[in-house]
Amino acid sequence: MTPQSPPAQSATPAAATSRLVSAPLDPADRLIVALDLPSATAALELAAELQGLCRWFKVGMELFYAAGGSIVTGLRDRGFQVFLDLKLHDIPNTAAGAVRSVSSLDASLLTIHAAGGEKMMRAAVEAAAHPGSPTLLAVTVLTSMDAPGLSATGIPDPPETQVLRLARLARASGVPGLVCSAQEVAAVRAAVGAEVLTVVPGIRSAGAPGSDDQARIATAADAIAAGASMLVVGRPITQAPDPAKAAAALLAEIATAATRPAGS
Ligand code: C5P
Repeated sequence: MTPQSPPAQSATPAAATSRLVSAPLDPADRLIVALDLPSATAALELAAELQGLCRWFKVGMELFYAAGGSIVTGLRDRGFQVFLDLKLHDIPNTAAGAVRSVSSLDASLLTIHAAGGEKMMRAAVEAAAHPGSPTLLAVTVLTSMDAPGLSATGIPDPPETQVLRLARLARASGVPGLVCSAQEVAAVRAAVGAEVLTVVPGIRSAGAPGSDDQARIATAADAIAAGASMLVVGRPITQAPDPAKAAAALLAEIATAATRPAGS
Protein backbone atom coordinates (compact mmCIF):
# COMPACT_ATOMS: atom_id res chain seq x y z
CA MET A 1 0.00 0.00 0.00
CA THR A 2 1.01 3.60 -0.45
CA PRO A 3 2.57 5.09 2.67
CA GLN A 4 0.37 7.82 4.10
CA SER A 5 1.92 11.04 5.25
CA PRO A 6 1.04 12.41 8.64
CA PRO A 7 -0.22 15.98 8.53
CA ALA A 8 2.64 18.48 8.08
CA GLN A 9 1.35 20.35 11.10
CA SER A 10 0.47 17.77 13.74
CA ALA A 11 -3.14 18.07 14.98
CA THR A 12 -3.73 19.20 18.54
CA PRO A 13 -4.60 16.29 20.86
CA ALA A 14 -8.20 17.53 21.16
CA ALA A 15 -8.63 17.75 17.39
CA ALA A 16 -6.99 14.36 16.92
CA THR A 17 -9.26 12.61 19.39
CA SER A 18 -12.46 14.32 18.24
CA ARG A 19 -11.64 13.05 14.73
CA LEU A 20 -11.55 9.52 16.12
CA VAL A 21 -15.25 9.31 16.79
CA SER A 22 -16.22 10.43 13.28
CA ALA A 23 -16.21 7.52 10.83
CA PRO A 24 -14.90 6.60 8.40
CA LEU A 25 -11.39 7.03 9.74
CA ASP A 26 -8.21 6.91 7.78
CA PRO A 27 -6.43 3.58 8.55
CA ALA A 28 -3.44 5.59 9.80
CA ASP A 29 -5.70 7.07 12.49
CA ARG A 30 -6.73 3.58 13.60
CA LEU A 31 -3.33 1.99 14.20
CA ILE A 32 -1.34 2.80 17.34
CA VAL A 33 2.15 1.33 17.50
CA ALA A 34 3.13 0.38 21.07
CA LEU A 35 6.71 1.53 21.63
CA ASP A 36 7.44 -1.02 24.36
CA LEU A 37 11.17 -0.33 24.21
CA PRO A 38 13.78 0.37 26.89
CA SER A 39 15.07 3.79 25.80
CA ALA A 40 14.14 7.04 24.07
CA THR A 41 16.84 6.37 21.47
CA ALA A 42 15.35 3.02 20.48
CA ALA A 43 11.83 4.48 20.44
CA LEU A 44 12.71 7.53 18.34
CA GLU A 45 14.67 5.35 15.89
CA LEU A 46 11.64 3.14 15.35
CA ALA A 47 9.34 6.17 15.08
CA ALA A 48 11.62 7.59 12.39
CA GLU A 49 11.51 4.28 10.52
CA LEU A 50 7.70 4.40 10.55
CA GLN A 51 7.37 8.13 9.76
CA GLY A 52 5.10 8.71 6.75
CA LEU A 53 3.27 5.46 7.46
CA CYS A 54 2.14 5.64 11.12
CA ARG A 55 0.72 8.64 12.98
CA TRP A 56 0.12 7.23 16.45
CA PHE A 57 2.53 5.82 19.02
CA LYS A 58 1.84 4.41 22.46
CA VAL A 59 4.19 5.22 25.30
CA GLY A 60 3.67 2.69 28.07
CA MET A 61 5.27 2.06 31.45
CA GLU A 62 8.53 0.57 30.14
CA LEU A 63 9.38 3.56 27.97
CA PHE A 64 7.89 6.26 30.21
CA TYR A 65 9.75 5.02 33.29
CA ALA A 66 12.99 4.85 31.29
CA ALA A 67 12.71 8.08 29.36
CA GLY A 68 10.31 10.34 31.29
CA GLY A 69 7.98 12.96 29.88
CA SER A 70 10.48 14.10 27.25
CA ILE A 71 9.71 11.04 25.11
CA VAL A 72 6.12 12.26 24.81
CA THR A 73 7.12 15.80 23.87
CA GLY A 74 9.83 14.38 21.56
CA LEU A 75 7.25 12.35 19.63
CA ARG A 76 4.88 15.35 19.55
CA ASP A 77 7.68 17.56 18.20
CA ARG A 78 8.11 15.05 15.36
CA GLY A 79 4.42 15.39 14.45
CA PHE A 80 3.04 12.19 16.04
CA GLN A 81 -0.01 11.68 18.22
CA VAL A 82 0.75 10.01 21.54
CA PHE A 83 -1.27 7.53 23.56
CA LEU A 84 0.16 7.64 27.08
CA ASP A 85 -0.65 4.22 28.52
CA LEU A 86 0.12 4.63 32.21
CA LYS A 87 -2.89 2.63 33.41
CA LEU A 88 -3.42 4.78 36.52
CA HIS A 89 -4.90 2.86 39.44
CA ASP A 90 -4.69 4.50 42.86
CA ILE A 91 -6.78 6.39 45.38
CA PRO A 92 -8.83 9.19 43.74
CA ASN A 93 -6.62 12.04 44.97
CA THR A 94 -3.42 10.40 43.71
CA ALA A 95 -4.89 9.37 40.36
CA ALA A 96 -6.22 12.90 39.80
CA GLY A 97 -2.81 14.35 40.67
CA ALA A 98 -1.15 12.00 38.20
CA VAL A 99 -3.55 13.11 35.46
CA ARG A 100 -2.68 16.75 36.20
CA SER A 101 1.05 15.96 36.24
CA VAL A 102 1.04 14.46 32.74
CA SER A 103 -1.53 16.81 31.20
CA SER A 104 1.10 19.32 30.07
CA LEU A 105 2.85 16.68 27.95
CA ASP A 106 0.36 17.09 25.07
CA ALA A 107 -0.57 13.39 24.81
CA SER A 108 -3.89 12.70 23.08
CA LEU A 109 -4.96 9.65 25.09
CA LEU A 110 -4.27 8.52 28.68
CA THR A 111 -5.35 5.28 30.39
CA ILE A 112 -6.74 4.70 33.85
CA HIS A 113 -7.90 1.35 35.26
CA ALA A 114 -11.69 1.00 35.51
CA ALA A 115 -11.04 -1.38 38.42
CA GLY A 116 -9.92 1.72 40.39
CA GLY A 117 -13.64 2.36 40.85
CA GLU A 118 -16.15 5.12 40.25
CA LYS A 119 -14.66 7.66 42.67
CA MET A 120 -11.20 7.29 41.16
CA MET A 121 -12.52 7.57 37.61
CA ARG A 122 -14.64 10.64 38.43
CA ALA A 123 -11.62 12.32 40.04
CA ALA A 124 -9.51 11.55 36.96
CA VAL A 125 -12.22 12.86 34.62
CA GLU A 126 -12.42 16.09 36.62
CA ALA A 127 -8.63 16.47 36.53
CA ALA A 128 -8.68 16.00 32.76
CA ALA A 129 -11.47 18.53 32.18
CA HIS A 130 -9.15 21.28 30.97
CA PRO A 131 -8.19 22.31 27.44
CA GLY A 132 -5.06 20.42 26.37
CA SER A 133 -5.66 17.47 28.72
CA PRO A 134 -5.61 14.00 27.19
CA THR A 135 -8.80 12.08 26.48
CA LEU A 136 -9.19 9.37 29.12
CA LEU A 137 -9.59 5.69 28.32
CA ALA A 138 -10.63 3.18 30.96
CA VAL A 139 -8.90 -0.19 30.77
CA THR A 140 -11.48 -2.89 31.47
CA VAL A 141 -9.86 -6.36 31.71
CA LEU A 142 -6.29 -6.73 30.44
CA THR A 143 -6.09 -8.68 27.17
CA SER A 144 -3.52 -10.95 28.85
CA MET A 145 -6.19 -12.24 31.27
CA ASP A 146 -8.20 -15.38 30.60
CA ALA A 147 -11.07 -16.80 32.67
CA PRO A 148 -8.86 -18.81 35.10
CA GLY A 149 -6.55 -15.80 35.59
CA LEU A 150 -9.50 -13.55 36.34
CA SER A 151 -11.03 -16.12 38.67
CA ALA A 152 -7.78 -16.30 40.64
CA THR A 153 -8.13 -12.57 41.39
CA GLY A 154 -11.53 -13.23 42.97
CA ILE A 155 -13.72 -12.52 39.95
CA PRO A 156 -15.59 -15.71 39.04
CA ASP A 157 -17.30 -14.24 35.96
CA PRO A 158 -15.96 -14.81 32.45
CA PRO A 159 -13.90 -11.91 31.06
CA GLU A 160 -16.76 -10.60 28.89
CA THR A 161 -19.08 -10.16 31.90
CA GLN A 162 -16.42 -8.27 33.82
CA VAL A 163 -15.52 -6.15 30.77
CA LEU A 164 -19.16 -5.11 30.36
CA ARG A 165 -19.53 -4.38 34.09
CA LEU A 166 -16.43 -2.16 34.07
CA ALA A 167 -17.35 -0.55 30.73
CA ARG A 168 -20.73 0.53 32.13
CA LEU A 169 -19.10 1.81 35.33
CA ALA A 170 -16.50 3.76 33.35
CA ARG A 171 -19.10 5.39 31.12
CA ALA A 172 -21.29 6.19 34.15
CA SER A 173 -18.21 7.85 35.70
CA GLY A 174 -17.79 10.07 32.64
CA VAL A 175 -14.81 8.34 30.98
CA PRO A 176 -15.09 8.87 27.22
CA GLY A 177 -13.16 5.84 25.93
CA LEU A 178 -12.60 2.18 26.74
CA VAL A 179 -9.88 -0.43 26.26
CA CYS A 180 -11.07 -4.00 25.78
CA SER A 181 -10.28 -7.00 23.60
CA ALA A 182 -11.75 -7.59 20.15
CA GLN A 183 -13.79 -10.41 21.66
CA GLU A 184 -15.89 -7.96 23.71
CA VAL A 185 -15.91 -4.84 21.57
CA ALA A 186 -19.25 -5.48 19.82
CA ALA A 187 -20.97 -6.27 23.14
CA VAL A 188 -19.40 -3.17 24.72
CA ARG A 189 -20.76 -0.93 21.97
CA ALA A 190 -24.19 -2.53 22.28
CA ALA A 191 -24.13 -2.01 26.06
CA VAL A 192 -22.78 1.53 26.35
CA GLY A 193 -23.59 3.16 23.00
CA ALA A 194 -22.08 3.20 19.55
CA GLU A 195 -20.40 6.59 20.01
CA VAL A 196 -17.84 5.32 22.54
CA LEU A 197 -14.17 5.33 21.55
CA THR A 198 -12.88 1.74 21.73
CA VAL A 199 -9.19 0.93 21.71
CA VAL A 200 -8.27 -2.72 21.21
CA PRO A 201 -4.92 -4.41 21.95
CA GLY A 202 -4.14 -8.14 21.62
CA ILE A 203 -3.85 -8.03 17.82
CA ARG A 204 -2.18 -11.01 16.15
CA SER A 205 -2.21 -12.10 12.49
CA ALA A 206 -3.86 -15.33 11.53
CA GLY A 207 -0.61 -17.12 10.64
CA ALA A 208 1.55 -15.68 13.46
CA PRO A 209 3.53 -18.24 15.50
CA GLY A 210 2.20 -17.41 18.98
CA SER A 211 0.25 -14.96 21.08
CA ASP A 212 3.16 -14.06 23.44
CA ASP A 213 1.56 -13.23 26.81
CA GLN A 214 -1.78 -12.17 25.30
CA ALA A 215 -4.86 -14.34 25.94
CA ARG A 216 -7.84 -12.64 24.26
CA ILE A 217 -6.51 -12.07 20.75
CA ALA A 218 -7.92 -11.37 17.28
CA THR A 219 -6.67 -10.34 13.86
CA ALA A 220 -6.68 -6.65 12.94
CA ALA A 221 -9.41 -7.29 10.36
CA ASP A 222 -11.66 -9.05 12.86
CA ALA A 223 -11.11 -6.36 15.52
CA ILE A 224 -12.06 -3.58 13.08
CA ALA A 225 -15.06 -5.52 11.74
CA ALA A 226 -16.20 -6.10 15.35
CA GLY A 227 -16.25 -2.34 15.96
CA ALA A 228 -12.83 -1.29 17.30
CA SER A 229 -12.14 2.43 16.77
CA MET A 230 -8.38 1.96 17.05
CA LEU A 231 -5.97 -0.96 17.41
CA VAL A 232 -2.83 -1.14 19.55
CA VAL A 233 -0.06 -3.27 18.08
CA GLY A 234 3.33 -3.76 19.72
CA ARG A 235 5.54 -6.79 19.11
CA PRO A 236 4.05 -7.80 15.74
CA ILE A 237 5.56 -4.51 14.48
CA THR A 238 8.42 -3.70 16.86
CA GLN A 239 9.92 -7.22 16.75
CA ALA A 240 9.29 -7.77 13.02
CA PRO A 241 12.35 -8.15 10.76
CA ASP A 242 10.96 -5.19 8.78
CA PRO A 243 8.72 -3.04 11.04
CA ALA A 244 7.63 -0.73 8.20
CA LYS A 245 6.53 -3.70 6.12
CA ALA A 246 4.60 -5.15 9.08
CA ALA A 247 2.91 -1.79 9.75
CA ALA A 248 2.01 -1.37 6.07
CA ALA A 249 0.44 -4.84 6.02
CA LEU A 250 -1.64 -4.00 9.10
CA LEU A 251 -2.77 -0.68 7.59
CA ALA A 252 -3.85 -2.53 4.44
CA GLU A 253 -5.74 -5.07 6.55
CA ILE A 254 -7.49 -2.25 8.45
CA ALA A 255 -8.44 -0.50 5.19
CA THR A 256 -9.97 -3.68 3.77
CA ALA A 257 -11.79 -4.61 6.99
CA ALA A 258 -13.26 -1.11 7.31
CA THR A 259 -15.22 -1.69 4.10
CA ARG A 260 -16.54 -5.09 5.23
CA PRO A 261 -20.20 -5.22 6.30
CA ALA A 262 -20.44 -5.64 10.09
CA GLY A 263 -20.30 -9.25 11.24
CA SER A 264 -19.02 -10.70 7.95
O1 C5P B 1 3.13 -6.50 21.88
P1 C5P B 1 1.63 -6.43 21.97
O2 C5P B 1 0.94 -6.15 20.65
O3 C5P B 1 1.05 -7.61 22.70
O4 C5P B 1 1.39 -5.14 22.87
C1 C5P B 1 0.12 -4.75 23.33
C2 C5P B 1 0.23 -3.45 24.03
O5 C5P B 1 -1.06 -3.05 24.48
C3 C5P B 1 1.15 -3.45 25.22
O6 C5P B 1 1.85 -2.22 25.21
C4 C5P B 1 0.23 -3.50 26.42
O7 C5P B 1 0.74 -2.78 27.51
C5 C5P B 1 -1.03 -2.82 25.89
N1 C5P B 1 -2.28 -3.25 26.49
C6 C5P B 1 -2.73 -4.56 26.48
N2 C5P B 1 -3.92 -4.89 27.06
C7 C5P B 1 -4.68 -3.96 27.65
C8 C5P B 1 -4.25 -2.64 27.66
C9 C5P B 1 -3.04 -2.31 27.07
O8 C5P B 1 -2.04 -5.41 25.91
N3 C5P B 1 -5.86 -4.28 28.15
